[in-house]
Amino acid sequence: MPRPIRKAVFPVAGLGTRFLPATKAMPKEMLTVVDRPLIQVVVDEAREAGIEHFIFVTGRNKSVIEDHFDKQYELESTLRKRGKSTELDMLEMDLPGAGETSFTRQQEPLGLGHAVWCARHLVGNEPFAVILPDMIMKASPGCLAQMVSVYNERNGGNVIAVEETPWEHVHRYGVVGGTDWKANHFTITQMVEKPKREAAPSNLIISGRYILQPEIFEILDKKEAGAGGEIQITDAMKKLMEAQPFHGVRYEGTTYDCGDKVGFLAANVALALEREDIAPAFRDVLDQIISTHGGKLTWD
Ligand code: UTP
Repeated sequence: MPRPIRKAVFPVAGLGTRFLPATKAMPKEMLTVVDRPLIQVVVDEAREAGIEHFIFVTGRNKSVIEDHFDKQYELESTLRKRGKSTELDMLEMDLPGAGETSFTRQQEPLGLGHAVWCARHLVGNEPFAVILPDMIMKASPGCLAQMVSVYNERNGGNVIAVEETPWEHVHRYGVVGGTDWKANHFTITQMVEKPKREAAPSNLIISGRYILQPEIFEILDKKEAGAGGEIQITDAMKKLMEAQPFHGVRYEGTTYDCGDKVGFLAANVALALEREDIAPAFRDVLDQIISTHGGKLTWD
């Protein structure tokens, strides 16, 4: 068996400019899908995949994330006095155990690669996962759990979750090409950041979940800036690919890009419709909203 994936890095130091003014004083990662903050949703996914240590790379205005993963004694005692045992149990279940979280700061948002590099001492010399909290993957088993299965099956290496996107959108993303196709995974042979449609090796995009070997830190140490002047994780992975295998996982599930307003709204609608406690009432409201807008979802 390859070395287990025990640690996950959550880069949460970005500015969240696409969500201003909501993100002026509040981190994007605390935006909620129905009633769960994005960061809680991805921590749940990591726990399901067997992660034991949760490393948050934070920035300014992000201390609320640290508070979220702490006990709130006043709140808990009030809930206890009021006999709100369901809410108390939920808070208890959501909380990682004592000593299972670490927080470090990315002092300047110099890019995703730089954010991951900031976690190097906390990760140490072992393979680890990176989870982007604004990409919500609705899947069962969860996306990271599916990736860990492939990691074990392929006896280690690096693993990236990928998904299909319409060809006309490939220029917005990191795109991979591959060989040796199996049911849900393949060997990655090419990685291109934001290619033109004609230059894209496929329409499979890198979608926010990675399992990486610690040698990535030696590459990120060089702090080479790429697209947009940022230190890009894709550039570092491309270099690492010269020395180590990379496996792509076409995970089964649906992705919601919650860093984007439409993706975020879609996640809220889709996940609300899956919640037994609110779905019937929400469906009625949604029907009403749609009928007051001409009975259809598009306007002409
Ligand atoms: P994004 O580019 O989607 O996030 O990065 P952003 O920069 O916060 O958002 P916009 O584009 O300005 O609206 C994906 C993830 O990587 C983190 C972000 O917090 C987000 O979770 N990130 C990005 C960092 O931690 N540091 C960075 O320098 C850049």
